[in-house]
Order: sequence, then C-alpha cells, then structure tokens
Amino acid sequence: MKLSLLEICYLIGSITFILGLKMMGNAKTARKGNLIGAVGMVIAIIGTVFLFEKKDTNGVLVENFTVPTIVYILIFGAIALGTVIGWLTAKKVQMTKMPELVSMFNGMGGACAALIGLMEYHHNIGHTGALIAIIAGLIIGSISFSGSVIAYLKLNGTLNKPVRLPAYNIINTLFMIGVFVFGAYVVYAEPHGSGFLYALFVAALVYGILFTVPIGGADMPVVISLLNSFTGLAAAFGGFLYDNKVMLTGGILVGSAGTLLTLVMCKAMNRPLSNVIFGAFGGGGATAGNGAEVNGSIKDITVSDLAVLMNYSKKVVIVPGYGLAVAQAQHIIHELELLLEERGVEVKYAIHPVAGRMPGHMNVLLAESNVSYDKLVEMEDINPEFDHTDVVLVVGANDVVNPAAKSDPSSPIYGMPILEVDRAKHIIINKRSMSAGYAGIDNLLFYDPKSSMFFGDAKKALTELVAELKTM
Ligand code: TAP
Repeated sequence: MKLSLLEICYLIGSITFILGLKMMGNAKTARKGNLIGAVGMVIAIIGTVFLFEKKDTNGVLVENFTVPTIVYILIFGAIALGTVIGWLTAKKVQMTKMPELVSMFNGMGGACAALIGLMEYHHNIGHTGALIAIIAGLIIGSISFSGSVIAYLKLNGTLNKPVRLPAYNIINTLFMIGVFVFGAYVVYAEPHGSGFLYALFVAALVYGILFTVPIGGADMPVVISLLNSFTGLAAAFGGFLYDNKVMLTGGILVGSAGTLLTLVMCKAMNRPLSNVIFGAFGGGGATAGNGAEVNGSIKDITVSDLAVLMNYSKKVVIVPGYGLAVAQAQHIIHELELLLEERGVEVKYAIHPVAGRMPGHMNVLLAESNVSYDKLVEMEDINPEFDHTDVVLVVGANDVVNPAAKSDPSSPIYGMPILEVDRAKHIIINKRSMSAGYAGIDNLLFYDPKSSMFFGDAKKALTELVAELKTM
C-alpha cells in the first residue's frame, strides 16, 4: 500500500495526538504533550490546505482542480484571527477561570461541527450515509455549542441560578427524542429546502440550552467535560464525512477522553452522571446533610500559636482546596513549605482527585509555584500517613475533608472518598468563615475536638504565618 504525502501528514498528526494525550496524563510531561499535540495539528492543517485532493461524491479524484486564491486568503485570515484571539485569551486567563475558557473553546468546536453540517447538507443530497454523518454532526455540535455558552455564563456568574421548569427532565427527554426524530426525517424524507435544516439547527440549539440550564453552576466542570465529549463525537462525524483520518482520530480521542473524564469525576464524587444532570446539588444552606443544623462548638487558633505548633512538628501535611486557588495562595504556601523544611519538618501535600473545580486543579496550581511533584501525594497513599502526622493544615478545602462522607448516610456526599485528616494529631482549618463549600453542607470536621479554625483569606493568613515563623 502506497501512502500519499497527505496521508503521511494525517498519520503523523494522529500519532502525535495519541502521544500528546498520553503525556498529558502526567504532570511532568503534560506541557510537552500539549506541544506535541499542537505540532501534530499544525502538520494536519498545513497538509489539508496545501495537499488537498478534490474528490467527487463517488470518491473519484477530480483532475486539475485548483483552489482559488481568495480561499487561501480566507483560510489564513481565519487561522490568524483565531490564533491571536486564542493565544491572548489563554495567556491572560487565571487558573480559577480555566473551566470557563475550556467551555468557550469547546463551544467553538461544537459551532464548527454544526457549520459543517449546514454547509455540506445540500452537497450530499442522495447520499444517505453522508447525510446521516452531516445531520448527526449538526445536532450534536449545536447542542455542544449552546450548552457550552450556558455553561460559560453559569461559571462566570451571569446565570447564577439553575432554572428548572416543572418536570424539566421529562420535558428535556421528550425534546431530545423530538430533535433526533426530526433529524432522521431531514435525512430520509428528502429532498428539502433550507427551511427544515435551519429549523433542526435551531431545535438542537434550544435543546442544548434546555439541557444545561437546570444544572447547578458548581456541577459545570462535569457538564463541560460531557459537552466536550459531544464535540469530539461531532468532529468525528465530520472526519467520517470528509474521509479525513486525522479529524476522525482527533474527534474520537476528544470524545472518548471527555466521556472517561466525566465518568472519573462522577466516580470521585460518588455521584452517578444522572444525578449531575437531573439532581439538584449544591448551593443550599449549611446543613449536616439531612437538613438538620449542626450543633457544636469550634475553637480558633492565633497565628503565633500556630507558628509554634508547626515549628515544633515532625510532620506536616497540607491539604489544598478550592479556596487556595481563589486566594491565589500557591506561592506563599510553597514558601511556608520551604521554611518548615529548613527547620527539619517533613512537609507533604495531600491531593484529593476532585479538590478545586477541575481535574488536576491542585496539581496545576502547585506546579505554578514550583512545588516538587514528589511532594504531592494522592489520597489513597496519604490517608494511612495521617496516623503519623502532627499537623494537618487544610487550606480552602471543605467537602474533600468532610467526615460526613463516611459517617452520615443522609449526606449528599455520603460515599465520596475523602482525605481522612481526622486521623492526624492536630487539624488546622484555614478559610474565611463558616460558609459551606461546593456541596452546600456543613462540615463536621470543624467541630472535631482536635480541630482549630485559622480564619482569614488564605493568602493573607499564610503570609502572616510565614512572617511569624521567620521571627522564630
Ligand atoms: P469546597 O468544598 O468547594 O470548599 C472550598 C472552601 O474554600 C469554602 O468552604 C470556602 O470557605 C473556602 N474559601 C473560599 N475562598 C477562600 C479564600 N480566599 N481563602 C480561604 N478559604 C477560601 O472545596 P474542595 O474541598 O476543594 O472541594 C471541591 C468540591 O468541588 C467537591 O465537592 C467536588 O466534588 C466539587 N467538584 C470538583 C470538581 C473537580 S474535577 N475538581 C468538579 C466539580 C465539582 P469560606 O467561604 O468560608 O472561605
């Protein structure tokens, strides 16, 4: 079998995508993996633009086909515009706003897949296989686009309340079935004018909104990952339509990675996907989980007492959570770690798989401040170590250390694996108030006799702690 130069480009593109994705599984190689994937994408784009071979609808090569210059100008103009916007946005974005960025980029992918559907439908009338791919890509891409826009608006706080129609899950399910039945009609009951096609496009956009609007803002990372898998699927249909292997590979990789990530997140939260999509989770008042207010007393600790406690400890484990990211306290926490180590204290970080608001959030955040990877210990490995830990310093984490997940079957987080910090000798919790975390429930850990609250914004409080330690 002889491969054309274009096919070789696609092969290289596909291999680099797989390799890049594999490397992104490890914090040490993630940056390089991302770069390798991007190089593969550039090769695939350049190959497509300059080595493109026009085939007719029967797959026969069109001889002497030339691309008009204006098409090249449009393509490179669009690439330049997209590169500048993408580069600047990604450069400027704060780490805590990453899910918003991902939802916007994902929405663009969905929109592209939908536009391919709108463009290609009329060129493929009479070719049922191609029409199925076109309509499937159009529907799924449109859902992904409008769903991602809603996810973005929820994450940036513009749409901060879930909107739930009565019996919304029944309405949504019926609407979804309606959209796909309509899609089948548009494929099989041809020929059609543009009216049906645009009506289908609008219906799919409306479904994307209906699907995302009832879901709580805090569940958006899971929803974005799910929408990401939809975009991958829509792109794969595009690859199938154009017989473009790299688009097919890329689409399948995005689709399967998005699906796996969605399931991994749900598993780590111990919630079925149906509960994320149909369940009303988070945002409630602080309760123990069954609606009862928690009674008990808390005690707090002063910065000087904490500095003494830490200075004379043998082993300290830091538990970072969402609040660390909000406060941007990753640099000062690293300084605290170095200072303690200078004094002979062993310091480690305990990483919960869903701490923060996106997969790997804490790893990325701590890597920003050059915390060594071998100091980051996964939940299963660190839990037994808490028995020999003098001080656990919980910084802006809440749900991931809530013992209700183990002890209270009525709690919405019951069954979620947690960092078992209550096994340590002293538990210090840094947060600004007694407010609940993502799950909207009170935390029994705060009332543990071994616990002390160290109130304040993480960056400010840790800066004071570091300053105090330096005086000792
Ligand atoms: P949360 O349970 O959300 O708690 C974060 C805590 O940080 C809050 O209680 C808040 O209390 C505190 N905080 C906020 N700003 C702060 C600041 N400037 N300084 C100090 N503290 C601050 O966080 P977590 O323990 O990381 O748990 C993550 C939650 O998100 C889990 O329920 C998880 O299931 C969910 N989730 C995670 C993901 C992924 S993939 N990571 C995806 C979806 C959902 P105050 O307001 O009192 O300061």
